[in-house]
Formats: sequence, structure tokens, C-alpha cells
Amino acid sequence: MAIVDLFPTSLRLLGRPALVVGGGPVAARRAKALLDAGARVTLVAPVLSDAARELTDFLSWEARGYRGTDMDHAWFAVAASGNPAVDARVAADAEAQRVWCVNHSHADDSAAWTPAVATVEDVKVAVNAGGDPLRAVAIRNAIKSSLETGELPLGRFRRDLDKLDHRGSVALVGGGPGAADLITVRGRRLLAEADVVVADRLGPRGLLADLGGHVKVIEVGKTPGHHPVPQTEINAILVREAQKGNRVVRLKGGDPYVLGRGGEEAIACRENGVDVEVVPGVTSAVSVPAAAGIPVTHRGLAKAFTMVSGHEELDNVPAGSDHTVVLLMGVGTLNRSIPTLQAAGRGPDCPVAIIENGFAKNQRVTIGTLGTIVAQAQAGRVRNPAVVVVGDVVRVSPLAPAELATAHYGTRETFSALS
Ligand SMILES: C[S@@+](CC[C@H](N)C(=O)[O-])C[C@H]1O[C@@H](n2cnc3c(N)ncnc32)[C@H](O)[C@@H]1O
Repeated sequence: MAIVDLFPTSLRLLGRPALVVGGGPVAARRAKALLDAGARVTLVAPVLSDAARELTDFLSWEARGYRGTDMDHAWFAVAASGNPAVDARVAADAEAQRVWCVNHSHADDSAAWTPAVATVEDVKVAVNAGGDPLRAVAIRNAIKSSLETGELPLGRFRRDLDKLDHRGSVALVGGGPGAADLITVRGRRLLAEADVVVADRLGPRGLLADLGGHVKVIEVGKTPGHHPVPQTEINAILVREAQKGNRVVRLKGGDPYVLGRGGEEAIACRENGVDVEVVPGVTSAVSVPAAAGIPVTHRGLAKAFTMVSGHEELDNVPAGSDHTVVLLMGVGTLNRSIPTLQAAGRGPDCPVAIIENGFAKNQRVTIGTLGTIVAQAQAGRVRNPAVVVVGDVVRVSPLAPAELATAHYGTRETFSALS
């Protein structure tokens, strides 16, 4: 049979009799797939492998060798006895009775082939690859992973088939610090399934360009001191769009529950009877320092850290340069927060780093001390979004100047993440 002679189709075997000849692992796999499709499976084999034995509650097992009459009434057959002569007989009987049969002993003569199948939710993709089963499996795996990560679209277009999500729902998705590949697999997939995306100014905005033309994008991004869409209105948008039956993704920067007002959005949804799911994200509080080679804790330097908004009072933050302080939204309030941290016992020599636009092409790192950083930030016109890190851990950064750095932690040249 020429390989191009295939006719791809999808059989609906629900309730129809299917015959499997053989009791080994291959037969068991095929029987299981047929059962999953709802077929009434008869399995003919004198002995069963463990895998086949696990299925005996769900199919009819004839504990004997194959007989020609087994083919009567079958709509579909699988010859997987492991004995080429038996499989050839099964296939010949199937042919005579016009039953489609997969012959596992003679792929070239087989009337039907079993494709490699990727199943993700209710989507099934079947792959035949020029008669090369391993190639088919490799392609199947790549497709499956792309569907699972949302690189390939899973969203439904026929709403009448959308029984599961008919009520609409909201997913609060933590998008991470902005790089398209720092969102979680789950977040990416929900984004690919969304009908409506309510987007922030921060987060992986590059992914918005991949959305289908049918997806409605509502921009609600805030900048410090400028909230064009108030939080109450954002909550109302989420509820309203979900109540229309849409799958709504609220795409947020970092993690939804870290200074992200995700809690309020989740409560608003629940109070209005809207299903809401929260997908954690990579928070900028930890990841943006890492982009500058700064671990927020480090053996021998810091055992704990405090993450706090620059708008908050810092008097109660534990003192000592061995306790890391991470400030979000801290640029505008630097004049106030830096003297407070210094007065609380850290001293003017405590290292400080400010990382602007973490993970973006225009990422910039300014490193100094509590005594120098305000002037450096002014001179360098440091802007939000930025994360401020205060404490001895800054010394670990390969970008730290020689007078602050601890030699054995690396150098700018060895820090490939920034190259
Ligand atoms: C409203 S908070 C949201 C924090 C977010 N939920 C998180 O977990 O990262 C916004 C602040 O996060 C910080 N931020 C977020 N992404 C950043 C990035 N890529 N680079 C630097 N700072 C960032 C900045 O301090 C910014 O002002």
C-alpha cells in the first residue's frame, strides 16, 4: 500500500462491537483505546498480560484461540496476537467481511493503521508520519505539548458545543515579570482558550499579539498614581464578561496575589456567582532581583526577606543588612524609604540594587549603598517598573562594583544571563 493512500477519518464506535485478538501489551493498549471510544470490546486470547487483565471488568474476554466466527458483527478489528499467522488469518477474515482491521504483524498489508494520538481536553489529534511510527510519536508529542502550553489554540469557536464552560468563568493568571516564557504552562494555555483578556501594563504583554482576532482585549493597566480604570470597575468588567458566557483571563504581572489586588478580584467573582480560578505566577519580587544575579536569600548572607510596597511604612521591617528588603513600586518613594532603612540600623554602607524593567531588553541595574543610592537614582533618572533590593545579598550580583562584591560569587563576564 502506498503511504499516500491513507484516508484520515474519525470513527465513532460508541456502543458498536469491536474485536481484539491477542492478550499482550499491544492488544491491551488497543483494547483500552477502543473502550475509551465507547466500543463494546471482545478480546480473544488464551492468556492475558497484566495490562490486559486490568481491563477484564470492562470488556468481554474469550479465553481461547481465535475462531472465524469471532469476526461476526464486528465493526472494527485488531489483530495483535503476536503470531503472524494468526494475525494474517484475522486480517483475511476481516477483509472478507469488509471489516476494517489493524494487523500488527504486517503493517504494510494492514487495511487500517493506528495513528499516534494526542488527547488534550476534548481535542484529539491523530498523526501518521509516512509509515514511521517513532516519527509519528515524536510529532504527536510536540503537538501535545504545544496544545498543553497554549502555543496552539485550544479555544472553541462553536459556542453550542461549549457545554462545560457555558456559564463563563474568570482565570486570574499571574503572567510573571514580563518575559513571554516566564508565564506558567497553565496560564499560557488558559490565555490561548480565552474569549476575553483583561490586560495589565506589566506582565507578558508580548503574548497579546498571539491572540486570535476574535479575542476581545480590554486594557486596564495602571501606572503609579494613574489608575485610568479603577479597581471596582475592573472587578465589574470581569464579572460582566464572565456572565455573558465568556472565558475571561485577567492577565496580571507577576503573581496575582502579591501586591496585585487579585484577592479583591477573586472575591468579586465569587460574590457574583462567577467561577474563578487563580493561576500563580512568578513574582517580580523574587525574579527581578534574580535577573540581576541577586538571590533574595543566600547562605551566610541572608536567611529571610521582607517584600513590601514602597508606599508602606518601613519602621517595622527587621533591621540588619542580613535581612533582605525588597521594595516594589519603590522608585517614587525612595527619598523617604532609604533614610528610614538606614536609620533602622543598616547603616550607610548597606548595599542596594535597583533593577528597572527586569527581563526586558532595556533592563538596567543600578547598584550602590544606602548612603549613595538616592543620588545615583536621581542622576540616572531611574523609573518604574523597578524592584529595589536592600541588603548584603546585593554583593552576590556579578554586576556589583568591586568595592561591594564578594570575589568568589562571579564577575560580570561570567554572568551569562545578562549577556
Ligand atoms: C502593582 S505591583 C505588582 C506586582 C506583581 N503582582 C508581582 O508579583 O510581581 C507592580 C510593581 O512590580 C514591580 N515589577 C513588576 N514587574 C517588573 C519588572 N519586569 N521589572 C521591574 N519591576 C517590576 C515594580 O515594582 C512594579 O512597580
